[in-house]
Amino acid sequence: MNHEYSLDDLAATAGKLASPPGVALVIGAGGGLGAALTAQLSGSEGAFGPYPTVLALSRSSHPAIDYADETSLQAAASWVAAQCADRQLDLRLLVVASGFLHGQQGQPERSWSQLDADYLSHVFRVNAIGPALVMKHFLPLFPKQGRCAAAFVSARVGSIGDNALGGWYGYRASKAALNQLVKTASIELTRRNRESLCVALHPGTVDSGLSQPFAKAGLSVRHATVAAAELLAVMAGLTAANTGSFRDYRGNSLPW
Ligand SMILES: NC(=O)c1ccc[n+]([C@@H]2O[C@H](COP(=O)([O-])OP(=O)(O)OC[C@H]3O[C@@H](n4cnc5c(N)ncnc54)[C@H](OP(=O)(O)O)[C@@H]3O)[C@@H](O)[C@H]2O)c1
Repeated sequence: MNHEYSLDDLAATAGKLASPPGVALVIGAGGGLGAALTAQLSGSEGAFGPYPTVLALSRSSHPAIDYADETSLQAAASWVAAQCADRQLDLRLLVVASGFLHGQQGQPERSWSQLDADYLSHVFRVNAIGPALVMKHFLPLFPKQGRCAAAFVSARVGSIGDNALGGWYGYRASKAALNQLVKTASIELTRRNRESLCVALHPGTVDSGLSQPFAKAGLSVRHATVAAAELLAVMAGLTAANTGSFRDYRGNSLPW
């Protein structure tokens, strides 16, 4: 699959995204991409629906989720289950847009000499262990019949086969771990629901706090609104036969 989209095309394509209607949930909704995904899914035209209800979770939502505290995920999953029950709707779409590259806990490594146990621990916590706990607590909320889709935002630099530049040891390794978790969960999810889809997605370089220090001339940086629309359109074009794949924002398969 290889697409060139206008936003109008994306909206038209993405009408197929979920059937039957249900609840969409964005985790990591406070980030650049997560906020844009939530806004697109909540759009008044329902371009990426049909999602009568869009729920958004982050460290500052109510309930809040923090990957440092599994009980926050457990409580948030119970809250989502209650929201679905109240509305008599199933969870049909889960998008996990959380991630960590740099911050108080450290910076991505340029050399093995910069490897630091605390940074590695944090980057694995946010990029791999947190999403794994999301799988544990939220994938069981999907119905056992009908299309349902989970997308975990990964990164092309997590591809081992595509690693030509080196550097960014922790971020690369944590996203590679995420990719393996997604593949493994996709197999278990298919056993529960044969129409399910569970994929890892590379959003391209997106204008956000995560990419800002690394933006350099010549790099194609896209607005989060565009990137979110592209990821949703890719999801709309995938079927259960594509579950367990690693795709970029144009829908192209990436090497593991
Ligand atoms: N930007 C790019 O160019 C780019 C390129 C390739 C891949 N990606 C991937 O795209 C995804 C979205 O990134 P972004 O650009 O939107 O970055 P961002 O604006 O920095 O957002 C990061 C998100 O991660 C969440 N997060 C961080 N630490 C967390 C923790 N301990 N527990 C729970 N959530 C936590 C944040 O939650 P709060 O809202 O609670 O702060 C926020 O929603 C990430 O997976 C990133 O790796 C981005």
